Amino acid sequence: MNIRLSRRVMGLEASPTLALTGKAKELRKKGHDVISFTAGEPDFDTPEHIKEAAIRAVKEGHTKYTPVGGMEELKEAIIERYRKDHSLEYAREEILVSCGGKHSFYNLCQALLDPGDEFIVPAPYWVSYPPMVRLAGGVPRIVHTREEEGFRLTPERLKDSITDRTKAVVINSPSNPTGCVYPPGEIEELVRVAIDRGVLLISDEIYDRIVYGEVEFVCAAGVCDGARENTVILNGVSKSYSMTGWRIGYALGPKGLIEAMTRVQSQSTSNPTSISQWASVAALKGSQQCVEEMVREFKKRRDMMVEGLSSIDGISCVRPQGAFYVFANVSTFFGRAHKDRAIDDSTGFASFLLDTGEVCVVPGAGFGDDRYIRLSFACSEEDIRRGVDRIKEAVGLLR
Ligand SMILES: Cc1ncc(COP(=O)(O)O)c(C=O)c1O
Repeated sequence: MNIRLSRRVMGLEASPTLALTGKAKELRKKGHDVISFTAGEPDFDTPEHIKEAAIRAVKEGHTKYTPVGGMEELKEAIIERYRKDHSLEYAREEILVSCGGKHSFYNLCQALLDPGDEFIVPAPYWVSYPPMVRLAGGVPRIVHTREEEGFRLTPERLKDSITDRTKAVVINSPSNPTGCVYPPGEIEELVRVAIDRGVLLISDEIYDRIVYGEVEFVCAAGVCDGARENTVILNGVSKSYSMTGWRIGYALGPKGLIEAMTRVQSQSTSNPTSISQWASVAALKGSQQCVEEMVREFKKRRDMMVEGLSSIDGISCVRPQGAFYVFANVSTFFGRAHKDRAIDDSTGFASFLLDTGEVCVVPGAGFGDDRYIRLSFACSEEDIRRGVDRIKEAVGLLR
């Protein structure tokens, strides 16, 4: 039977980061010594006390449906964290727990957007924002930021991008893919513009605990009067607690919107996995030392990767202040070739690296800037050392 797919899904591309991680894994299986800098997840194991909590949940019979929007115990743990970390007070009705941070953003788009509504997405952006906006009928309005400005959206550019169709703007700090962290003052300026112009500010703070000390992380909902009512915070346990496979994310925001997002969830996935919710309670309420240890490790690797890449002629990068990615400018190689293979864009550059140096990176095109590649340093120091050497050798062949 010739199945005609919906127009909606025909225009939908698969996540390029997941596709490349898969390609690297496949090559490895075939015996190639591929070094992968594609991981969007910490390479550490989930901390023991979190795994124990999940096992306990199974043994105690917490294996049934929970309330659609998340268990009270988990909502209370989230409330406690926001009170402790950011002096922000949230009620349970202002929180929705979903199946990962990605699902939180999906629910938000479904609950917020009508066809033609605009959603401002600063580029470079996390690959999934524009497709999820489009799936909901919205129009992603891509606003380019500059490397010289640390890849941060300025209040002026935000103001210039708002039209009478603008519903929301998403800020992702610390950022995937650039690692930029907005200083508190700059977040406040953006929040004030959003309030002023009646635009909802979506603050994706999933990397909030992975910062390296240069710039203080601040939660957008707490920066000034009125911020809390005009902001939706997106967060989750995936990155901070090395729990990507457990699929728990959450949103904090205005009650009416959270209630609408919960309705979307009630007619799609229902509650996130009960066992993962119990594990997340342990993650949020337990000792945070595991996070600190992971961040210390990441910082060493970051420095090693930045120093290594900067030593390569033709590659430049901004030192990331958070998350675990380096966004490196490789555009000086465009127009060059090795044998009869010419490099014209980030995808061509990434496949040249994979074929010639057996190093896998993610092309910047998927993040909205084709001059760059993204390298994740969620891998061993040994891999960073060897991978950077291989990149140096490979680009040395380009004439
Ligand atoms: C910026 C950003 N937001 C949200 C997510 C979603 O995380 P989760 O695995 O919890 O769905 C990711 C994951 O890569 C991300 O990088």
